[in-house]
Amino acid sequence: MMYKRFTARMNLSAILHANYFLLPIVHRFDIHYGIGDATVSEICANRGIDEEFFIEILNVYNDPSYFPEAELRKSDIRLIIDYLGKTHSYYINYLLPNISKQIHMLVLSGGATNKSLRPVASLFMEYAREFQKHIEHEEEQVFPYALAVAESFLARSAARQPVKKRVGSIRKIEDEHTMMDEKLFDLKNLLIKYIEYPFDVHTCNSIIFEINRLEQDVRDHARIEDRVLFTRIEQMEIELRGGKRK
Ligand SMILES: [Fe+2]
Ligand SMILES: [Fe+2]
Repeated sequence: MMYKRFTARMNLSAILHANYFLLPIVHRFDIHYGIGDATVSEICANRGIDEEFFIEILNVYNDPSYFPEAELRKSDIRLIIDYLGKTHSYYINYLLPNISKQIHMLVLSGGATNKSLRPVASLFMEYAREFQKHIEHEEEQVFPYALAVAESFLARSAARQPVKKRVGSIRKIEDEHTMMDEKLFDLKNLLIKYIEYPFDVHTCNSIIFEINRLEQDVRDHARIEDRVLFTRIEQMEIELRGGKRK
């Protein structure tokens, strides 16, 4: 499939009409409804949003094969972390509770005798718990550490001092992302292959669509963490150590 590349000269409304799944992404930049015919450039200038970062993020979500690592790495670390943090809130405050509510409805729709639906609820709860732990670790340990490294790096560049500084290693404190994807696939597989009637088919479809949306969103989120944020921080660590890898 060929995806059209969005540019900042386009109307944001036209971009959203081209892909409605971009709506939650746009909300993470505090852009909501009532945007009229303004272009991306105009909206970003009015709201003090980094235009290049914004348009690249929209393109990354729109086209799964597009990932401009080099361009994204040029963005301000604080901007990347702010965006990743807003994505975390979207998962924790909206997407996970929404899927959980629908799974609850699915189990209820099967009645007291349908035991085949219960593993769906327990597998999802297990996933949600692990995912929440992963997010907490990033918010409490990884992001503050990354910000501190970026700050030392900026201070050093401003002072033009080639002084060595003691830094840790982002690769040692970050968590793996691979396990998370597998659980979401298992969940969809469980629904498609193993649940038994009776249950509400429409609720089940809706759960699969939402899990799929979560999967796609998390995949892009993890790529931004691994290949943009952590890679950039790792380069800063090396420079702060005076060119040495750990
Ligand atoms: Fe994250
Ligand atoms: Fe992560």
